[in-house]
Amino acid sequence: MTNYGITPTETPRLCVVMVGLPARGKSLITQKIVRYLSWLSIKARSFNVGSYRRLQEAHPSADFFDVHNAQGERMRRQAAELAVKDMLEWFETSDGVVAILDATNSTKARRSWIKELLQGHGVEPFFVESWCNDKELIWNNIMDVKTTSPDYVGQDPEEAAKDFMARIRKYEEVYETLDETEAESSYVKIINVSSQVVINKIRSYLQSRIVYYVMNLHIKRRCIWLSRHGESEYNLTGKLGGDANLSPRGEMYARKLPELVKEAVGDRPLTVWTSTLRRTQQTARFLPYPKLAWKALDELDAGVCDGMTYEEIEQKYPEDFAARDKDKYEYRYRGGESYRDVVTRLEPIIMELERQENIMIVTHQAVLRCIYAYFMNVPQDRSPWMVVPLHTLIQLEPRPYSTNETRVPANIPAVSTYREKGTSSKHSTEVVE
Ligand code: SIN
Repeated sequence: MTNYGITPTETPRLCVVMVGLPARGKSLITQKIVRYLSWLSIKARSFNVGSYRRLQEAHPSADFFDVHNAQGERMRRQAAELAVKDMLEWFETSDGVVAILDATNSTKARRSWIKELLQGHGVEPFFVESWCNDKELIWNNIMDVKTTSPDYVGQDPEEAAKDFMARIRKYEEVYETLDETEAESSYVKIINVSSQVVINKIRSYLQSRIVYYVMNLHIKRRCIWLSRHGESEYNLTGKLGGDANLSPRGEMYARKLPELVKEAVGDRPLTVWTSTLRRTQQTARFLPYPKLAWKALDELDAGVCDGMTYEEIEQKYPEDFAARDKDKYEYRYRGGESYRDVVTRLEPIIMELERQENIMIVTHQAVLRCIYAYFMNVPQDRSPWMVVPLHTLIQLEPRPYSTNETRVPANIPAVSTYREKGTSSKHSTEVVE
């Protein structure tokens, strides 16, 4: 795996050490950072101390977390030690670049121990604290935990919520927030989900990327709708790229889209993003919402193959055709782009999507695959081969630990632009209902 073109031995290994009371969204932030970095080809993995503790104590009551409970303290310390041990092994054996230690790390003593241990092994510690006193946010997190945490599996949800609140109070007794007494540490402190952010001693490029990413996160419920443009004149003949108009069936899709979108979105406010190319703008033109055209959403640039069919490419550049089939993510068209290049140019789009609420994106097959891969955590060897049919509205609803997906077909026929790995380059004019 490439890591920004830097080999792991040259890259400082980074450990993001999460800090915060329970129910402050630490695990959510952890998983999002891992997904974001992996999408950018930076090898990242999380180590959750709670899962190590569960190996010995699967369903502890709040008393287990009492600072005066010596046995609980010992087991929690052991769990943290095991997590850090596995993490250091992962750095060694897997060329890992960013590990995330997902735990409360709620005292200065615990952080100082972790910092020394990491530095002793050549790993740069970077603390990310989620500090929150917004009662509604905390309550929503408690509600999520009581239904999703393995600690409370099979327990009455009301009892689970009560116990979890008692656990939080135990942690509050000893909690120490990051402050000037840890001024030598690199940290970012996110206050009430980015209402305020305190940044201290950022020392590397990776740290600054992570700071920028976590600053943009929000946890409001929202949806993202994705659609390819309607069938285009180029789609009819199997030509790539270009700036063609919609076909008559593509036009029918554009006219039907407002009804599909209204049904899915209801009265929620929405902004529509398109590429700068005609076919996406024509598709979106009847949608009664504010629109924004992004160059970054333009289709993957096929370089010298722009305007050609797969058949023509196979004849003229047979070795390119084969190379693309072999590694579609890395293959870069002569004078054009690869999927990896598209991901790089989409980073600002992802950042902005994280900041925004309800957004609909009308874009192109390859671009849509890359955006979809980010939200659905699709690995790079699979994302360029995903089936994304024309004339279908895709609804993604990011939830704390996954993204829900719904596909709504418009039931307007179109040609299929999908070519399976290793199959013929011949364009099929067969229409898919
Ligand atoms: C846990 O045992 O659930 C987490 C331990 C901690 O990070 O405090």
